[in-house]
Amino acid sequence: MPERWYQQAIVYCLDVETYQDSNGDGVGDLRGLISRLDYLAALGVTTLWLNPIHPTPGRDDGYDVSDYYGVDPRLGSLGDFVELVHECENRGIRLMIDLVVNHTSDEHPWFVSARSSPDSPYRDWYVWSPTEPPNAEEGVVFPGYQRGTWSYDEQAEAWYHHRFYEFQPDLNWSNPEVRAEMGRVVAFWLQLGVSGFRMDGAPFVIEEVHPDGGERTMHYEWLNDLRDHVGWRRGDAAVLAEANVPREQLLDFFGERGSRLQMMFNFAENQRIFLALARGSATPLVTAVESSPALPASCTWATFLRNHDEIDLSGLRESERADVFAAFGPDPDMQLYDRGIRRRLAPMLGNDRRRIELAYVLQFSLPGTPVIRYGEEIGMGDDLSLEQRDSIRTPMQWADAPQAGFTTAAEAVRPVIAKGDQAYPVVNVRDQQRDPGSLLSWFERTLRVLRETPEFGTGGCTVLDTKSDQVLALRYDSPTGSVLAVLNLGTEPSTVDLSPQPGPRGGFGADLLADRDYPAVPADLSAVELDGSGYRWIQLHRNPAP
Ligand code: NOJ
Repeated sequence: MPERWYQQAIVYCLDVETYQDSNGDGVGDLRGLISRLDYLAALGVTTLWLNPIHPTPGRDDGYDVSDYYGVDPRLGSLGDFVELVHECENRGIRLMIDLVVNHTSDEHPWFVSARSSPDSPYRDWYVWSPTEPPNAEEGVVFPGYQRGTWSYDEQAEAWYHHRFYEFQPDLNWSNPEVRAEMGRVVAFWLQLGVSGFRMDGAPFVIEEVHPDGGERTMHYEWLNDLRDHVGWRRGDAAVLAEANVPREQLLDFFGERGSRLQMMFNFAENQRIFLALARGSATPLVTAVESSPALPASCTWATFLRNHDEIDLSGLRESERADVFAAFGPDPDMQLYDRGIRRRLAPMLGNDRRRIELAYVLQFSLPGTPVIRYGEEIGMGDDLSLEQRDSIRTPMQWADAPQAGFTTAAEAVRPVIAKGDQAYPVVNVRDQQRDPGSLLSWFERTLRVLRETPEFGTGGCTVLDTKSDQVLALRYDSPTGSVLAVLNLGTEPSTVDLSPQPGPRGGFGADLLADRDYPAVPADLSAVELDGSGYRWIQLHRNPAP
């Protein structure tokens, strides 16, 4: 078995606020989450990534933190958090939390003090300019919802930098006091028992912004410091970075021989998955996998289809983006920030079960650790009447019961989806648990097979030539054995010739996983049959346990 847990993990991302309410106030909370841990263990997830849980004014769903050392009172207490850690440990589940350290809320006491006087001890914890910077309008992350990246503060009588919304002033990481404080923040949560962090906006954390408009400086060495702080407190802890950066910068985040961050979301691949699905073509993924840089042995990608944000398609060419929009988000209301789609996967794929399965098998077949967004396992939908990314942040649908079983309150923190194909009477956990043919049951089986096939997490990946634009074939070789993943992105059946394959093989039994029972493949793999949108995982050989 691999030595590093995060290379063999199945990560489930959830927002505590919308997962399960335990006290009837309409807001999900930590105790509610504890009551659902058995569900999560049975699903087969090994790691939970919690979206921000800290005290917050809640103007960006918790990504505007006002105290790094606490739990938002709406979600519970530190006591509840420690209870959650304990209950997770009982079930062998690890916890990761969001580390939102590029910026604070403008209500954080540090910023309140910093803006109040140039003599505040916190003044230099933020990034100021006495005059309007020449590029104050540039570099916005939320076009249409964010005016610029510098705003004037009347009280401070100065301009402050904010990469995101104007209520999220950027911390000044050039200040060693800020870096030392963030070391204490990670130490605090590691001491409480988390196994790692999802680092929000990593490239912005390490950029030094020059108010005169000069080229920003990237301080990758700060990531080494962060990694050291994390490692000293907990040797096996991991940091998963959100860094949607050009390919040539990726390895700088991992660091030489993995000296910086252990995991990064694979944004380039995420966009190409949607392009491949839109075009019914494996080519975008062949290119993505083949051009992906070789990672240090201790590092890995995090793969994902959906997360709590829009699907960011900004890395695609205009014609490619147009194809994805046309297929999955044709209505302007489905699109966001001139670059993305604010829908969940099931409605994007027209609730077509075959395509949903194909999409997830594709994710699980690609190199890296899978991250799954809550509710995807039952095929939850979106509510486009909600603002921006709230469309995909509706309460978890537990049952065909009032408020979907999420809360006993008359009103939930966000409306449950009560109309349409994905309303909670149609799509909910309880019904799907009773149905062996449900999407949830399929997820349970598939995640079990994935966990039992360590080759996917640890093996070297080779793209095989299928001579078919619509079929993707990946081969993984690891000390445990070799597997093949073969997927048909097209709607027409296809049979591909994958002979000859090196190494021991033959005597193939039933597929490890497939969309249906296929006849066994011939020993030379010269004919691998697939239905339209079909998929197969084939064990080529297994090495005996040492
Ligand atoms: C990235 C997060 O994923 C997003 O939800 C948030 O709005 C921004 N960072 C700002 O923290």
